[in-house]
Amino acid sequence: MHACSIRDLKKEYVLKSETVRALRGVSFDVPEGDYVAIMGPSGSGKSTLLNLLGCLDQPSGGELLLGKDNVATMTDDQLAEIRSRRIGFVFQSYNLIQQLTVVENIQVPLYYQGKLGAKERKRCVDLAARVGLQDRLSHRPTQLSGGQQQRVAIARSLVNDPYFILADEATGNLDSKTTAEILSLFNELNAEGRTIIMVTHEDEVAERAKRIIRLRDGLLQSDRLNSPESRQAAAERALALIPDPQDDEEQTPTPIPVEA
Ligand SMILES: Nc1ncnc2c1ncn2[C@@H]1O[C@H](COP(=O)(O)OP(=O)(O)O)[C@@H](O)[C@H]1O
Ligand SMILES: [Mg+2]
Repeated sequence: MHACSIRDLKKEYVLKSETVRALRGVSFDVPEGDYVAIMGPSGSGKSTLLNLLGCLDQPSGGELLLGKDNVATMTDDQLAEIRSRRIGFVFQSYNLIQQLTVVENIQVPLYYQGKLGAKERKRCVDLAARVGLQDRLSHRPTQLSGGQQQRVAIARSLVNDPYFILADEATGNLDSKTTAEILSLFNELNAEGRTIIMVTHEDEVAERAKRIIRLRDGLLQSDRLNSPESRQAAAERALALIPDPQDDEEQTPTPIPVEA
């Protein structure tokens, strides 16, 4: 039900002086539970594609199906409903509200939906803990590292329990160790059955996905599966960067969940 399918998808931006053909006919299917990395040079249409998948923008042509729903025929209200109920967004620039605390930032989508009761507040505290920020609930974004800010953004993206997580260069501003932590969180979310589509320009990040799609000049250049062995190897290289919390004790490292 939560698969997504695109056929001959096109997006043109009409400017005064020219028309930019950002996507020129792209087709692929994303089955439920997939984990896809979208790669390609700057300007190849990656963000445009992610914005269409996230119903932030409408295609100029072709078809985009989310489950059985054709995005092209939906009203603005239906699109807004899909965006808030089914999709979690994570961006490179964490897009947090500087005046709000960690837990308040996580609450923002619920606040706008007028759904912020006691149960929801508790859920936001749980989500903060889920991303390892249980001791930072009252901190403001300026008091957090980049990786911590991105974890707040991920917790916020999870408040409506989305089926899809869409991430645009989510680790683009982070060092390798922090990137490894964020990707291990993505692995967990994917192991729970959430479909993840992430844009990245880093091979080492893309190697963590189940599948790598490359765009070039608004067209699909390649679409390949990543072997479980190569994903596992990338996860282990990443794990070696994450410090062990009880580093004095002898411990076997926790394996990062990787499914075939
Ligand atoms: N809002 C916009 N208006 C006009 N042109 C745009 C807009 N967004 C993107 N483009 C153009 O569309 C092309 C694809 O952009 P984008 O999807 O952002 O690529 P990528 O994310 O791969 O770098 C580029 O030529 C870019 O300049
Ligand atoms: Mg981009």
